[in-house]
Amino acid sequence: MDFPDTVRGRSMITVRGAEAREVGAARRLAAAVFSAQTPGSRPGALTAEELAVPPGPPTAPAAGPPGELRVVAVAADGAVVGTVLVRLRGQWFGGARLPGAAVSSVAVDPAHRGRGLGGALLESALGAAAASGAVVAALLPSTHRFYRSHGFGVAGHRPVHALRVREVLADLPRGRRPDVVRPATPGDAAAVADLVERRAAVVDGALDHRRLPRGPAEDVSEPGSWVVERGGRVTGWCVVHRRDPTAVGATYDGVVRDLVGETPDDEVALWRWAVADVPAAPVVEALVLPGGLLEESLERQVAPVEDGTWMLRLLDPAAALAQRGYAPGTTAQLRLRVGVGDAAAAAEVGLGVVAGAARVGAAAPGAPTVDLDLADLASVFTGHLDPVLARARGRIACDAATAVLLRGVFAGPPAVLPRAF
Ligand SMILES: CC(C)(COP(=O)(O)OP(=O)(O)OC[C@H]1O[C@@H](n2cnc3c(N)ncnc32)[C@H](O)[C@@H]1OP(=O)(O)O)[C@@H](O)C(=O)NCCC(=O)NCCS
Repeated sequence: MDFPDTVRGRSMITVRGAEAREVGAARRLAAAVFSAQTPGSRPGALTAEELAVPPGPPTAPAAGPPGELRVVAVAADGAVVGTVLVRLRGQWFGGARLPGAAVSSVAVDPAHRGRGLGGALLESALGAAAASGAVVAALLPSTHRFYRSHGFGVAGHRPVHALRVREVLADLPRGRRPDVVRPATPGDAAAVADLVERRAAVVDGALDHRRLPRGPAEDVSEPGSWVVERGGRVTGWCVVHRRDPTAVGATYDGVVRDLVGETPDDEVALWRWAVADVPAAPVVEALVLPGGLLEESLERQVAPVEDGTWMLRLLDPAAALAQRGYAPGTTAQLRLRVGVGDAAAAAEVGLGVVAGAARVGAAAPGAPTVDLDLADLASVFTGHLDPVLARARGRIACDAATAVLLRGVFAGPPAVLPRAF
């Protein structure tokens, strides 16, 4: 796909899969856009060095680790002026793992913004993800508006709290001590993946951290990655990082990037370990899962430092509806008419759920109709948007009884993305 280059004159900008030699420039562009430092030599632009690609003949596309797709926007002089990174990752809904895509590093050189380049990069990356089998795509948005116009709906929250270390230690129950706490090794990858998978059965939105195709998980090789063992088995895992302090005079802050235990005792042991691993930190930042151990144990509820949202797009609504899990007692027949933005043309999906199992195809005769757009379907799909409320606000069109039925079909735990990517 080509765009006129209004900065460099008459030449064109091309959106396509990254060549191996362009990956460095794409990373520098994303780093410059997301870093706290003001990039570029003049306001609103990035430097030639940040955008430059090493000279040389073109190299093969699809560089990078397996399961990673990078799309770039390249100017005629070879500079990378936009990028999107997609990692193919499973994501769980209703206890079922759907092939998905985690979208990150969405960045356009400021000099080229507002002319459709960001949208074209995003659609190109999502197209590549869908061609690789992904039926859903998730991301952490900086703006809802841009992503909503590309079919993403708000899927849930990410309540990240700054926990005071002393209070965590004082308030957590004692718990049964594990046999061993030790640094994770690549040999723990399968056990850690199983723990993540078991959590995913009860936390909608959890991402599969296994690299695809299956190989050693990158998570267990990270510094700060710990496991607990009981009876010779890995029964818990966490990743603890340090970062620049937020309080004056502090040495560093701790960040618990992920923590999962087979039992509450394993979780307690890991929280105690995580906190002890950052002894000079006054606060530890962590995601507080609704209904989880921290919410239940901490006496003083600490306000979230970030209550960000995450967004989901159904790349293939019919496949996503067919593959997700439903509560065992659920039975419903619906005709979903899914529009994209203001487009009059809507795709129709017949959804039949019988005793918790879904069938997708032509709608059953007499099935009630629900009209909604693709972004709202994603929000309903994760259970974040209550159909009864959405109907009252005119976001979805159906009769009152159908809204209640729809609420039952997608009811479940709050959809949380337990891990940023
Ligand atoms: C977001 C970004 C990739 C969009 O690139 P772009 O080439 O300007 O995108 P497009 O021209 O296709 O679309 C621009 C639309 O997004 C909207 N938009 C972009 N960033 C926005 C923001 N931070 N807040 C509100 N709206 C925003 C614009 O208003 C515009 O909407 P309009 O067409 O209705 O006016 C680019 O602004 C960027 O690199 N931003 C900094 C990094 C970032 O925020 N990335 C997203 C991280 S999740």
